Amino acid sequence: MCGIVGAVASRDITPILLEGLSRLEYRGYDSCGVAVFDNGALRRARSTERVAELADTIAREHITGFTGIAHTRWATHGAPVTRNAHPHFSGLGQEAPSIALVHNGIIENHEELRTELQAVGYVFESQTDTEVIAHLVHHLYHGDLLEAVQQTVKRLKGAYAIAVFCRDEPHRIVAARYGSPLVIGRGQNENFLASDALALAGTTDQIVYLEDGDVADLQLGNVWIMDATGKQVNRKINTVQVHTGAAELGPYRHYMQKEIFEQPRAVADTLEDVESITPELFGDKAYKIFKQIDRVLILACGTSYYAGLTAQYWIESVAKIPVSVEIASEYRYRDSVPTANTLVVTISQSGETADTLAALKHARSLGMQHTLTICNVSTSAMVRECELAYITRAGVEIGVASTKAFTTQLTALFMLTLALAQVHGQLTEQQEAAHVKALRHLPAAISAVLALEPQIMAWADRFATKENALFLGRGMHYPIALEGALKLKEISYIHAEAYPAGELKHGPLALVTEQMPVVTIAPNDALLEKLKSNIQEVRARGGELYVFADMDTRIVSAEGVHVIRMPEHYGLLSPILHTVPLQLLAYHTACSRGTDVDKPRNLAKSVTVE
Ligand code: M6R
Repeated sequence: MCGIVGAVASRDITPILLEGLSRLEYRGYDSCGVAVFDNGALRRARSTERVAELADTIAREHITGFTGIAHTRWATHGAPVTRNAHPHFSGLGQEAPSIALVHNGIIENHEELRTELQAVGYVFESQTDTEVIAHLVHHLYHGDLLEAVQQTVKRLKGAYAIAVFCRDEPHRIVAARYGSPLVIGRGQNENFLASDALALAGTTDQIVYLEDGDVADLQLGNVWIMDATGKQVNRKINTVQVHTGAAELGPYRHYMQKEIFEQPRAVADTLEDVESITPELFGDKAYKIFKQIDRVLILACGTSYYAGLTAQYWIESVAKIPVSVEIASEYRYRDSVPTANTLVVTISQSGETADTLAALKHARSLGMQHTLTICNVSTSAMVRECELAYITRAGVEIGVASTKAFTTQLTALFMLTLALAQVHGQLTEQQEAAHVKALRHLPAAISAVLALEPQIMAWADRFATKENALFLGRGMHYPIALEGALKLKEISYIHAEAYPAGELKHGPLALVTEQMPVVTIAPNDALLEKLKSNIQEVRARGGELYVFADMDTRIVSAEGVHVIRMPEHYGLLSPILHTVPLQLLAYHTACSRGTDVDKPRNLAKSVTVE
């Protein structure tokens, strides 16, 4: 998704801007650009290719500068073409442009502002909502960029992180945020900004997180921050060590494959500090909070939402606490009935998902003050916003399709289940010991499932020729069927739907023909016999079944029924194991179809806009 980098220094900052953009590349973008102050004028290069091509252009055209901003764009308003790429310039009539601006987020009142600015003579080059901000800053500029930006943001409705500089004040960048992340990086007589501290790794580790409504004035020797009321404020400088060591592909073809195979390590790391189950794993105040709550509300999007659905089964069955799970983008806008003693749990790989952050704030505004996040990024907004946190240790996930982040989320959610059960008197010491033993064995159990890759590859070749697929699961494996279908959709572009198997006869059975592969998750649990009947229903209609069956299920291969045996039945942790073959199936199907596995079309890694 969109990324911002900026720098004000006394040296050429184009290498810093390009390095920052390339660190943000994995998040997905469709165009990129850089603008600098160069010898008294604004210069710009933009590209619909990769950051490497942009760097070539900058070198070829000898673009250098000591003040500049850069951007990767993920199109929202207007196609991914060069004229819509950021930075956007503003100037009036025949004058040379004097304002350069980059923006993440969405301006909801851009049409109204566009009409207003056109009426006073501004000509729009792009279809973006961003260009209105550039012209508005220009329109309101009377010799002080800070004042112009402060006046501008008062007129904006929606979400934004912006960085802007002006030809007439060459050693200054003004930045502002509301609803989209932005950080300041402090240096020695030079200062930086970015939408994520990751972009500044290697440049500075002295990071200030801006808060909603903040406007920052970056100059060579200092940074001033004003809050939403215009009052100057001090924001803490954090020393942030950003982990950047995920770049090597090693023997793998794609990051997604590498990340699937990293899961035994990622789960082991997530469990590393866990000697026994204690609420303090989630924060110092966790015991007191867990004791107080009598409901859990889980808020998340996409794959993280499916982790939440799985946790609902666990928490209700083990800790006996009622749980509701909500898609964050829906929850934030619907009327719901809050209860005060609710633990609000957000789940997010990135910790920056705009919908989940907004849903969290909404829950808080309804009076639910106890918040916990399961998150993979310790420095993210989600972690900073929540009272309690469990940081998963998946490591940086580059593939847009989430894999190791999901299985580590599930691992953390299972521990949350046990901690809640313990505090609510639902967990004996023997039960705790058995669960911890099972958790500790997970990495080895996942490794055994990864060894099924060659068999799954053979299935994937057949899947690659299909345009539709159904996924079936029951109970706590239904969310895993949803996740399997999402993985297949995201990277192979095959239309896939997931159903609880018992729901088939209420409609989707009409879709089943010999052209429809039906992937079935068949753990050896209490619903197995019912699932076997569902399999027969599909088979009787000519549907082709692809079953991941636990070793001891006695489901055998037959005409139209293909079976891969899972090494062992894993009790309550079975959803984690059953996730892995579905990831491999999606991955190899996408490879057979020749799609861009790590950067699937239209998708971004970190969804920081609504
Ligand atoms: O960073 P988050 O976990 O909050 O992201 C939520 C979703 O955008 C994410 O899980 C998305 O669905 C992935 N592309 C799934 O593979």
